[in-house]
Amino acid sequence: MKIVSSAPGKLILMGEHAVVYGYPCIVTAVDKRLYVEVEKVSAGEDKFITPQVKGHRFLKETVVFFKEKYKIKDSLKILTRGDFSHKVGLGSSSAVIVATFNALANLFKITLTKKELFEISHEVNLKIQKVGSGFDIAATSYGGTQYFIKGGKVIQPLNLQRLPLVIGYSGLKADTPTLIKQVNKQYQENKKKTVLIFNQIKILVDQGKDELVKSNFEKFGVLMTKNHMLLKDLKVSSLKLDKMVEVALEAGAWGAKLSGAGGGDCMVALTPENRIKEVERAIVKIGGEIIRANVNSQGVRIEI
Ligand code: PMV
Repeated sequence: MKIVSSAPGKLILMGEHAVVYGYPCIVTAVDKRLYVEVEKVSAGEDKFITPQVKGHRFLKETVVFFKEKYKIKDSLKILTRGDFSHKVGLGSSSAVIVATFNALANLFKITLTKKELFEISHEVNLKIQKVGSGFDIAATSYGGTQYFIKGGKVIQPLNLQRLPLVIGYSGLKADTPTLIKQVNKQYQENKKKTVLIFNQIKILVDQGKDELVKSNFEKFGVLMTKNHMLLKDLKVSSLKLDKMVEVALEAGAWGAKLSGAGGGDCMVALTPENRIKEVERAIVKIGGEIIRANVNSQGVRIEI
């Protein structure tokens, strides 16, 4: 019997970096998914077939963890495929972990609550990455749009109808662990200044949460742009990301910011429907790539 589970990619809308220090963030799931197919096979080593995933470290670690925890002896064949590349920063690693646990739990008839799934996935992720708040695991497990505090202390769904976002890929891969370390260095060297930035980010996130649930996009956009400026102060942005944000705003976006660790990956621009084409064109003109995806998408699920 084959079981297929899929989990969505993610985008962080506000609060990156500060979330690592216990401040809140807002995260959303995108409708680009990662699929994991599992089946029992006759004896032998586990077989991993992962054409579009970089290596299979996350997958392997998840399988080892699952087998140990639930005392599974069977040999497995596991195949992954995805709607998106691991290069763009939409969270393929966290989606692989969550979808694999979900598929295996289903195959071996083990009941996992969302919270349990979040916790074991976060544990595996931390084992490999060493650092991280777990926001990406929450997004891919729960789906939708969530107000999140580190380690899953708070995972609060925000009831959204829609969110007209333009997603621009910078063409560069962000090195998340290095950027987290870089911010930590600043935090150690100048705690007062860094905490001040984190506190300002927190205020924006909390205001953003209120505006978002009321679909006050114009106001939410302004808060996003302010958040980008604070990320610039934290020195995690890049010239390319700054430029993409700038041209998106000039072309009529309500607000724009980098999304994720910075340095590369994606930026997002909250954009009135009638300006989307202009904003996309402006981003492409300066060398960005548009990723077409809807947000607020469904979390991990079994595919039938
Ligand atoms: O680079 P991404 O998309 O994985 O985002 C990282 C966001 C951080 O806040 C910097 C790290 C974290 O785990 O919260």
